[in-house]
Amino acid sequence: MERALVTGANRGIGLAIAKGLVKEGHEVLLGSRDFSAGEEVAGEIGATAVELDVADPVCIEKVVKQVGPVDILINNAGVLGSGSVLDDINEFNQSMAVMVYGPFLLMHHLIPQMVAQGYGRVVNVSSGWGAFSDGLEGPGAYGVAKAALNALTVSAARNLPDCVKVNAMCPGWVRTRMGGMDATRSVEEGADTAIWLATLDDNGPTGGFFRDRKAISW
Ligand SMILES: NC(=O)c1ccc[n+]([C@@H]2O[C@H](COP(=O)([O-])OP(=O)(O)OC[C@H]3O[C@@H](n4cnc5c(N)ncnc54)[C@H](OP(=O)(O)O)[C@@H]3O)[C@@H](O)[C@H]2O)c1
Repeated sequence: MERALVTGANRGIGLAIAKGLVKEGHEVLLGSRDFSAGEEVAGEIGATAVELDVADPVCIEKVVKQVGPVDILINNAGVLGSGSVLDDINEFNQSMAVMVYGPFLLMHHLIPQMVAQGYGRVVNVSSGWGAFSDGLEGPGAYGVAKAALNALTVSAARNLPDCVKVNAMCPGWVRTRMGGMDATRSVEEGADTAIWLATLDDNGPTGGFFRDRKAISW
């Protein structure tokens, strides 16, 4: 049984990832910036709620001390912007805080413990909208932030021993508050590749970008 921390897990794809990991027998720390929302669903699925606002570095440091070493980190929390990347300074800052700096800080604090224990899996929930090969189509700062998260994935994986694997994934277009109800995939379908990457065996890939368990272009 591994110990997993999932961010933004009170709803949507994060909740489905948390649920899937519990089902596979893992201990899940369900991160949520609204503690009561997290506590409610954590109780339903057999996880433990942790108050975690990934845009707040002080909160991240507190959580890192509180939870101790984890085997699996899923950087799932995300926010979707609108308009052009140049429109709104606050939106740019928020996107980078939630989808780049927060994941960076969690990796910075938690990966050394994974190296020390000789095992770790990090999954960065990204998006095809953050792929240069697809034109960075995401609205507002979304595509830029996901591209930076992808870059962080490649760069972090390069300097780690093989026992710690860091990968990025795209869940596809998923029926959540972010994806909308017209989306083509269920949350379980969206969560599948993240769960697979979170539980890779020793021979699994690192530093890659995946959708439907297959490598995709950056
Ligand atoms: N849905 C799609 O079609 C799709 C496609 C590609 C990629 N993705 C990615 O998949 C991930 C999950 O998205 P989703 O569709 O499940 O979206 P969602 O239903 O809107 O859920 C987003 C989650 O992120 C949390 N969050 C936002 N800001 C946070 C912060 N500062 N600290 C902690 N948690 C925060 C939200 O918490 P609150 O409830 O407190 O707001 C919520 O739990 C995101 O990274 C998204 O970019 C989604």
